[in-house]
Parts: sequence; C-alpha cells; structure tokens
Amino acid sequence: MGRKVILDSDTASDDTIAILLSSRLFDLLGVTIVAGNVDYDSQVKNCLFSLEYFGCSDVPVFLGSKRPIMGQWRTVPEVHGKNGLGDWDYPEPKKIPEKEDAVDAILRLSREYDGELEVLAISPLTNLALAYLKDPSIATRVKKVWIMGGAFSRGNTTPFAEFNFWVDPEAAKIVLDAGFDVTIVPWEVTEEYGVIDTETWKKIETMGTKLSEFFVRANRTLRDFSISQGNPGSVHPDSLTVYLAYDNSSVIESRRLRVDIETCSKTRGGMIVDWYSKENANAEVVLKADGKKFRDALLSILSSF
Ligand code: BDR
Repeated sequence: MGRKVILDSDTASDDTIAILLSSRLFDLLGVTIVAGNVDYDSQVKNCLFSLEYFGCSDVPVFLGSKRPIMGQWRTVPEVHGKNGLGDWDYPEPKKIPEKEDAVDAILRLSREYDGELEVLAISPLTNLALAYLKDPSIATRVKKVWIMGGAFSRGNTTPFAEFNFWVDPEAAKIVLDAGFDVTIVPWEVTEEYGVIDTETWKKIETMGTKLSEFFVRANRTLRDFSISQGNPGSVHPDSLTVYLAYDNSSVIESRRLRVDIETCSKTRGGMIVDWYSKENANAEVVLKADGKKFRDALLSILSSF
C-alpha cells in the first residue's frame, strides 16, 4: 500500500487534477472540503463528480468549514469559472459526502494512522487549524503537511498575498506555529515550475483519453485566466504540490526558514519569510522544482484511461 494521505481542497479546476494525482500516487484516505475558490456547494459537487469520473467512488468526502476562521473573503470565479470547473455542465454525481465532519475525520485518521498520515493542504488552512485547536496533539501524530500557499515576492490576490493564505491568514498562522513538519510550495514557484505550456496543452488536447478530456474541460477557464496574467499557459499550483509531495527528488532547492503570516490591513495574508536568521525555523520552503518531471508524470497519468 502507498503512503496514507488526506487531501484538503476547495475543489475547482486544478484541485481536481491534484485529486487525480493523489488517487494514483498515494493511498488517498479522504478528501476534506473547505471554503475557498468558488461557492461551497459547487466545490462539493466538483469533488464528488471528479472522484466518480476517476473511478474513485470509494474515496470518502468530508465536509469542513464553510468560512474562514475570521474575516471576509471573496471567491474567484474569474479564475475557475462560475462552478469552478470552467462552467462544464457535467452530469449530477451519484456519490454523496460522509456524515462525519472534516475536522473530526482529520483527527480520527491522525489517530488511526499515527506517525504515518500526511496532509496535502492545497486550500485555505481552516480545517487543519480547527483540527489543531480541537486537539493540539495532532501535530505529533501527522507525519508531514504539504502546503500550497503563500507568496514571498508577488501575491496573486493582493500585491502581498497568495489566495489560500489570504482567505484564512489566521488559520495559516495557527498551522505554521503548531509544530507540524511543514513544507510550503509558494505561489511564485508554482508559476515557474507548474505551468502547462501551449505545447503540452496541445498534447493533452489530442491525447483522446477520458482523463485528458476531463483535464481540458476542467482547466479551460484557468488557462485563459493564467494567460491573461502573463503566463505561458495554465498554472497548476495544487497538482504540482501533490507531485512534489510524492517525488521529493523533484524539489531541486528548498530552505528551512522562519515563516510568519501577516493578519492586518493591506498586507493581510502576506507571507513573511526571514531569509537570514536560522532561529525558530518552522517550515521548509520550496524554491526550485523540476517542472519537466511534473509534466511528464501528469501526461503519463492522463494517458492511462
Ligand atoms: C491557490 O488558490 C486557488 O485558486 C488554487 O486552487 C490554489 O490552491 C493558488 O493561489
């Protein structure tokens, strides 16, 4: 059996590809849903539909927080389409979410797989922060937390803040100070190494598999948006993070650093990195990754059925 993971997701476009990769590369114990990208019910439906489509109907979906711990946020339909999947009018999923709440499921699984469970957090960190607040000893049981979030030089939501940290900066702060073994894949790194350029997109478009069709439909709006922001193709922060979690050798450069989160006014959600002091380091920050290995692995999975 593979490594045991939970994927925490605000399911829209690239989150679905992260779900696909985690179902193929790990033993995916469940997907937990949290407020973020688009309206909550669409996120839930996107997740249920994706799992069914990928042949993973047995993977449980747990409903988590419907809002950040504090403050207001806005959804980003301009990035993912109104329903989060490029407005693809897909069939109604038959699968339904579990009755158990996401926070309770995270805590239960951390006990069942004590020292083994890894969390792939590709969304605002509300669920994990709430799990920690309910039972701080979770930090000693979870083996590793991979976080897609934060920006150290250019935010994608405000000049300072990346979306996931901006939606719930208090949660990000709680998780970073909790004592988990954390690796962060920041926005800038995903913009550089997680891009599906036009040539690769065309390969996927002409592949003719069920999964390649899914990829194109679910990520069409994301691609248009990414290109409008000056990228050479669609940016895939969530699936890159899942891939790096699986294949650590694809992390080309990372540093152990002190990371703090700004929770005030105009810089709210900003990631403050202390690049010089070695004291109180609380996260490994990925700085360079192997984008080609990520793209090759994605193409291979998309061609499988
Ligand atoms: C992050 O925000 C979301 O829109 C993406 O799914 C990703 O998790 C990028 O800032």
